[in-house]
Amino acid sequence: MSAPIRPPKPVPRPDRVSLLHYLRLFRRDILSAQPARLYHAWMAEFRTPFFRSFLCNDPELVNRVLKESPADFPKSDRLGEGLRPLLGNSVFLTNGATWERQRRIINPAFEGGRLHETFPAMCEAGRACVARLRARADGTPLDIEPETSHVAADVIFRTLFSLPIEDETAAATFREFQAHQRAQPILNLGAFLPLPRWFPRFHSRRTRKTARRIRALISGLTARRAAEIAAGTAPDDLATKIMTTPDPDTGIGFDTAEMVDQVAIFFLAGHETSASALAWSLYLLALSPEWQERVAAEATVLDDGTRADFAVLGQLRSSRAVFREALRLYPPVPMMVRESRCPVKFRDRDVRAGDQVVLSPWHLHRHDRLWTDPDLFDPSRWDSAAGRESARAAYIPFSAGPRVCPGAGFAMAEGPLLLSMLVRAFRIGTVTGHDPVPAAHLTVRSANGIWLQLTPRDQTPGDPVRPATEER
Ligand code: HEM
Repeated sequence: MSAPIRPPKPVPRPDRVSLLHYLRLFRRDILSAQPARLYHAWMAEFRTPFFRSFLCNDPELVNRVLKESPADFPKSDRLGEGLRPLLGNSVFLTNGATWERQRRIINPAFEGGRLHETFPAMCEAGRACVARLRARADGTPLDIEPETSHVAADVIFRTLFSLPIEDETAAATFREFQAHQRAQPILNLGAFLPLPRWFPRFHSRRTRKTARRIRALISGLTARRAAEIAAGTAPDDLATKIMTTPDPDTGIGFDTAEMVDQVAIFFLAGHETSASALAWSLYLLALSPEWQERVAAEATVLDDGTRADFAVLGQLRSSRAVFREALRLYPPVPMMVRESRCPVKFRDRDVRAGDQVVLSPWHLHRHDRLWTDPDLFDPSRWDSAAGRESARAAYIPFSAGPRVCPGAGFAMAEGPLLLSMLVRAFRIGTVTGHDPVPAAHLTVRSANGIWLQLTPRDQTPGDPVRPATEER
């Protein structure tokens, strides 16, 4: 039995700090800006001169907000402040009737049957990633985060637009997204201040510029697809499916402008999150040779992914358990914010209309009253009755209720598949002196990168590195 593994956790802030200090910490990283008591409390209240917010860890409250009465807790407009130049009126930011209509059109594209059809594109992206890494995997330390972003972006482009990431427009869009993330701080100041609608927003010129460029590239792709659909020559992928699905209630589908907003969010929500989860999964396996070997042994069923069909996913049980555990310990979306529409009582506290309600997968997943040894990396917990019970009460990496992530099934196919393909090809080790420091940017990433050592499994030490083309 190997020693228990406690992967890195951010150091919490002291219990009491001034507002200015809190804002400064918050801007740097939301996770270390929180006090340790949130891993034990059922709820907590934060008061600032600008707003009040309530963080809810009590599973009954989480259920109430997400599942029982979601219409009473819409998405806060303030949270959208930072993302609006890029995402416009996308499903991620809207509420009410507009949001309902958008989900009616989007949901069918992600239903079970469609996943079978996107699976070969995921395998192709996985093979291309293995080939890229093979060219570099000589045991020299490498930061895996840019690589997982690359493969996750490739998956999105292949499944959405039938384009590999090497395509000129796909590559340019990916580059611009990376520049946008550097230009766009996680929390726009507007999210803190309840500003009137007419007040100019605090977007930097760079944020606006990168957002404009991304939207121009996506508009080109979407317009081209609209023409192909009209000509009857469109490939049968997610973009075509979404653009040809009418709203069952009104019979009207998305027009090209609306589709641009949705493509922007699919790309952002779909590649940043999966990239984060895959990078942490690989790191966790580097810490645990025992689980790494289990995943590798099981992954032999994949061959190199050329002949893999969707049914093979059912055999990747260890990989799935590791991926779920990575989503628990490092949920890519660490917190979600809603706004109370009317006065309500939460436990013994009065929540007023307009107060913020924060649901935190980060704290819920590591809550010491809801999980056994929550900071331990233990994928076997998913096979235990206690683990399943905890998951029912306190596991929401994809949120829950009607606003649940539409890409959850997609991500749970992509993640274990890519993890298995990579572990089948490489032995993965940690790099001494390079422990990652979890921090929330757009998603939960590491402040100093996730450094790993990769060596091909089919190569004995000292062999020359095989050329990238051999994997194809
Ligand atoms: C490991 C991967 C992923 C994780 C952990 C994840 C997590 C989440 C979470 C927690 C939300 C809810 C956010 C909130 O309500 O504030 C969400 C929403 C969303 N996700 Fe994902 N996601 C992942 C992958 C994907 C993929 C692959 C796609 C699409 C291809 C996608 C598309 C979306 C969209 C469109 C929304 C907005 C839904 C709405 O507000 O109605 N996600 N995701």
